[in-house]
Amino acid sequence: MKRVAILISGGGSNMVALVKSMTGDHPARPVLVASNDPAAGGLRTAADMGVATAAVDHRLFKGDRAAFEAALLEPILQSRPDILCLAGFMRVLTPSFVERFEGRMLNIHPSLLPKYPGLHTHQRAIDAGDAEAGCTVHEVTAILDNGPILGQATVPVLPTDTAETLSARVLAEEHKLYPACLRAFASR
Ligand code: GAR
Repeated sequence: MKRVAILISGGGSNMVALVKSMTGDHPARPVLVASNDPAAGGLRTAADMGVATAAVDHRLFKGDRAAFEAALLEPILQSRPDILCLAGFMRVLTPSFVERFEGRMLNIHPSLLPKYPGLHTHQRAIDAGDAEAGCTVHEVTAILDNGPILGQATVPVLPTDTAETLSARVLAEEHKLYPACLRAFASR
C-alpha cells in the first residue's frame, strides 16, 4: 500500500476527492494533510475524515523559504509518504524541496499546460478568447507548473463565462481527473 501526503492551502476540495478515492482496492491510502495556512478549511475537513493533519504557517518565517520548508518537512517525513500530492497548495517550493520528492510528487493546475502556468489561469483563458480550458495533473519538477503531464481534462469556454463560472466548471473536472491520475500513478 502506497502512503500519500497531501499539501493544501485552502478549501481542499481536490484533497477531499483524493481522500475519498483511496478506499477498497485503491493502491494508496492518505496518511497526512498538511497546510501552510492554519486556517485552511481543508484541515478541518481532513480531520473529520479521519486523516492526520499538520499546519506550518509560512507567515511566521518572514520570507525565509528554506526555514519554512524545513519546518513543513518535519510532519511530512514523519508520515513517511511514498507520494506527495499538491492540491491547491499555493506556495512555490524550492528546487531542493522538489528534488527530495522528485518522481513522486504530483500537482494539479487549473489550465491546459503548457498554457498559463502561474496564477489567474481562467481569466487568462477568457482574455485570450480560448474555446477550451481545463486542468492538468503533472509531476512536479523544479520549474513551476512544468514536468511530465499525467493527464488533462478539457471543458468548453462559454461566451458568457467569467473567471468564476469557468473555474467552477474546471474544478468539477479536477475532482475526477486528480483521483484517476493518482490511482494510475500509485499503481505503477
Ligand atoms: C484548484 O482549482 C487547483 O487546481 C488550484 O487551486 C484550486 C484549489 O482548490 N491550484 C493552483 O492554482 C495551483 N497553482 P481546492 O483547495 O478546493 O482543491
